[in-house]
Amino acid sequence: MPYAIRAEGLEKRFGETLALDGVSLAAEPGTVLGVLGPNGAGKTTTTRILATLTAPTAGRAEVGGYDVVAEAHRVRRLVGLTGQYAGVDEMLTGFENLLLLGRLVGMPRRAARARAAELLDRFRLTEAGERAAKTYSGGMRRRLDLAASLVARPRVLFLDEPTTGLDPRSRGDLWDVVRELTGDGVTVLLTTQYLEEADQLADDLVVIDRGRVIADGPPEQLKAQVGGQVLEVAPVRAADREAVARIVGELAGAAPEVGEALVSAPVSDPAVLTAVVRRLDDAGITVGEMSLRKASLDEVFLALTGHRAEETAATDEQETEEVPA
Ligand SMILES: Nc1ncnc2c1ncn2[C@@H]1O[C@H](COP(=O)(O)OP(=O)(O)OP(=O)(O)O)[C@@H](O)[C@H]1O
Ligand SMILES: [Mg+2]
Repeated sequence: MPYAIRAEGLEKRFGETLALDGVSLAAEPGTVLGVLGPNGAGKTTTTRILATLTAPTAGRAEVGGYDVVAEAHRVRRLVGLTGQYAGVDEMLTGFENLLLLGRLVGMPRRAARARAAELLDRFRLTEAGERAAKTYSGGMRRRLDLAASLVARPRVLFLDEPTTGLDPRSRGDLWDVVRELTGDGVTVLLTTQYLEEADQLADDLVVIDRGRVIADGPPEQLKAQVGGQVLEVAPVRAADREAVARIVGELAGAAPEVGEALVSAPVSDPAVLTAVVRRLDDAGITVGEMSLRKASLDEVFLALTGHRAEETAATDEQETEEVPA
């Protein structure tokens, strides 16, 4: 089956900065491709190249079988993009914005009105639809952007962090919309900092760090690849936390993370669990809670990139120093 989105060796240079250093990825029609990576990894740059907003310095990409540079005009007819493309006019109402966009893509007036009303309803903006967009809250504005990107019924949709700043309910709404769209054969490329979102929606994931793809595959495969399970121990007495961390670290063979109540560490051999129980018992430490669970995508991300997904840029910088294993 031909890919709906396919990129090979994309490179993008901004002066001295090599923002993309050979990014390759592909998505089959009707699937969601999640693109993950820390701040500055190159997610937006990749998205913008695929949506024809900027040209790559080297490499090539096709969307719907069309070259994003040589056949950009054809690609533009197929794609929707949140934010940049939508071009919401602050002075117009939500309804007028969607109506205008429908008219711009050549819909007859009545069809454009119906589409606008349908999308306002879909994103719970029917009431607000009568007010100028400049009066919208951040989350409402974001929802209007999403609605705007859907007016023309794109076959391929690029969502660059679409749910950042949305409340849980609006986030759920968007997830539903994405699932509906893929059900109709639409292909979605989604960048996100929320790993739960990637886990929920993506058929395949690409993890980018510093302009390079460092891992790809279905979420389950990435989780299995990074080492399976996580041991968590919560001592009854907070004073025992350091001792627990020492024991867990020694037996798991990986530096444990010490949280408010829990000490946790990735383990590859489930037999570690019984060994830990024995050592804790010998040490006279009473345990309130102990469990072995599957690694979350968040831990996969940390293991791959050395950063947490939702870290701030400032924390990132402190952690770019090489830490001996
Ligand atoms: N127009 C530009 N001019 C110069 N450098 C740029 C430009 N756009 C992006 N960059 C640089 O390219 C790199 C990748 O940026 P990009 O915006 O693609 O990252 P991102 O993964 O989307 O990050 P974030 O999670 O913060 O949105 C960064 O180092 C960034 O500073
Ligand atoms: Mg970005």
